[in-house]
Amino acid sequence: MLEGPVVNLRIIGHEDIPLIVEWANDPDFGGEFEPIEQVNHREILKWLDGLSADEKWFFIEKKDDSKIGQIMYAPVGRHFVIGYRMLPAERNKGYCTEAIKIIVDYLFLTRDIVRIQAETNPQNLASQKVLEKAGFTKEGVKRKSVFIRGQWQDGVLYSILREDWREPKVLFKPKA
Ligand SMILES: CC(C)(COP(=O)(O)OP(=O)(O)OC[C@H]1O[C@@H](n2cnc3c(N)ncnc32)[C@H](O)[C@@H]1OP(=O)(O)O)[C@@H](O)C(=O)NCCC(=O)NCCS
Repeated sequence: MLEGPVVNLRIIGHEDIPLIVEWANDPDFGGEFEPIEQVNHREILKWLDGLSADEKWFFIEKKDDSKIGQIMYAPVGRHFVIGYRMLPAERNKGYCTEAIKIIVDYLFLTRDIVRIQAETNPQNLASQKVLEKAGFTKEGVKRKSVFIRGQWQDGVLYSILREDWREPKVLFKPKA
């Protein structure tokens, strides 16, 4: 488990499949900018068992172990990409910002990589804000990047480089 001051990140396992299915099939969990595909238990089991060692999905948990969101990372070429979702009732409380900082610290501390990236809908201001608060820089717009809800939509690309990050912000943070 990865522990921050306010939230913990716990790797998703087989025992979590019913909750993953429930959340994945709830359009409110994804929000207005995410895909709306429906999935079943068998598909999620196959997907979970097929993940590479370099792709991890975590629950974002409060200190009382309640599950309030998900965050993931996966390789993209020589770099990594991250994604995240919070339960509607738990948004705008700073939880996702902390979860992203934990993942960024973890990836830069455990892998010899120089770049982590994320892509979001141009209208998804909450997602852009959370990336900026976690130290990411906006790079530009990928035109017609993703097919979601019947339309080819643009994506705003953000990244954080190792030189932007410099040192851990949450995990094993150097003493001031
Ligand atoms: C994007 C998301 C994960 C952010 O999680 P969160 O825990 O609410 O994030 P935080 O509380 O750490 O920060 C959110 C910030 O966005 C701001 N924000 C929220 N809605 C906003 C809006 N419509 N316009 C501008 N800013 C907004 C909040 O005020 C907050 O900034 P602040 O701390 O300066 O006040 C959450 O909104 C979510 O789950 N959305 C649906 C799924 C999704 O879109 N995932 C990302 C796909 S790329």
